Amino acid sequence: MADIRAGILGTGHSYPEGILTNADLEKMVETSDDWITSRTGIKQRRKAAPGEYTSLFAVKAARQAIERAGLEPADIDLILCATVTPDQILPSTGCIIQAELGANKAAAMDLVAACSGFLYGLTVADTMIQTGKSKHALVIGAEILTQYVDYTDRQTCILFGDGAGAAVLGAVENSHGILASRIRSDGRYEEQLFSPGGGTRRPASAETLAAGDHFFKMKGNELFKVAVRSMAEISREVLEEAGLTADDVKLFIPHQANQRITDAVASKLNVDTERVYSNIAMHGNTSSASIPIGLDECVEAGKIQKDDIVLLASFGGGVTWGAVLIRW
Ligand code: UT7
Repeated sequence: MADIRAGILGTGHSYPEGILTNADLEKMVETSDDWITSRTGIKQRRKAAPGEYTSLFAVKAARQAIERAGLEPADIDLILCATVTPDQILPSTGCIIQAELGANKAAAMDLVAACSGFLYGLTVADTMIQTGKSKHALVIGAEILTQYVDYTDRQTCILFGDGAGAAVLGAVENSHGILASRIRSDGRYEEQLFSPGGGTRRPASAETLAAGDHFFKMKGNELFKVAVRSMAEISREVLEEAGLTADDVKLFIPHQANQRITDAVASKLNVDTERVYSNIAMHGNTSSASIPIGLDECVEAGKIQKDDIVLLASFGGGVTWGAVLIRW
């Protein structure tokens, strides 16, 4: 399996035009720009308008990634859409994206791993390419989280934003591409970040709607500590597996959950601030979309060059976490 490595051939991202600022939130709940900025680093987040749905942004990001990979939609044989905010329950958002792209030779599905979804997708695509089951895989992280936010809950409503990012993977020269990847979960902590209503356990009804059971509920403080510990640990594991150290990392792109989480993980790993990418001020937490949006922003800004070592790490609801190490 080690003879073939999967690498990222092209990236893309897209988000709604609508912006929700801290000043807007000050008018909705008891909070302040000062509190949000100092506790999270967030200044604004993108918010979809009524009528805008997840696959709209996923398709735009995907088209860009396919074009930059120098491919056509018909070259894609696998579409993995990581999302906790699908267009609808059935069919999968992956299939909706497939039809919209005209990727008529691709298997398509959704992947539910919250903020770690994109890294779960990269790991699955990497394995499919290494085993020869896939030649060109499209991995997308796409969310309209603001549809599930309770705008009376000041702990969660300040955090989440909308957007999508995508990457096309294919076989690359053996010393490049994904050098190591790890994904993990621990479902015992489901209630740290969850949306209890609307599924088969608690079907949607007038009662669940009135109780706001479809909204995200979070124990932010508890998540914070586990997030820092888990992201640092799993990052060390992939570095060790690849025989590298944090000094070799040119760019660290963590899931954007909270600037303080990013700073704490980077400090545990001894990666100085200049090598850490953050866009949380502009996007807030976009769950599965945060890493691919960040990755594409870095590519567009020329922050990643051939041979660079790029470390990606995430933590999210489930709970799930993961890390992927790439030689560009
Ligand atoms: O992406 C998936 C992973 N997500 C995460 O890992 C999220 C991790 N958690 C966090 O980012 C942080 O825990 C939050 C940003 C959600 C909260 O920050 P915190 O520093 O952990 O605050 P806290 O929950 O300990 O609350 C401190 C105080 C409380 O008041 P008292 O009890 O000290 O009087 C809160 O009621 O801050 C209050 N508070 C707020 N005040 C103003 C909570 N939210 C707000 C708010 N504005 N929006």
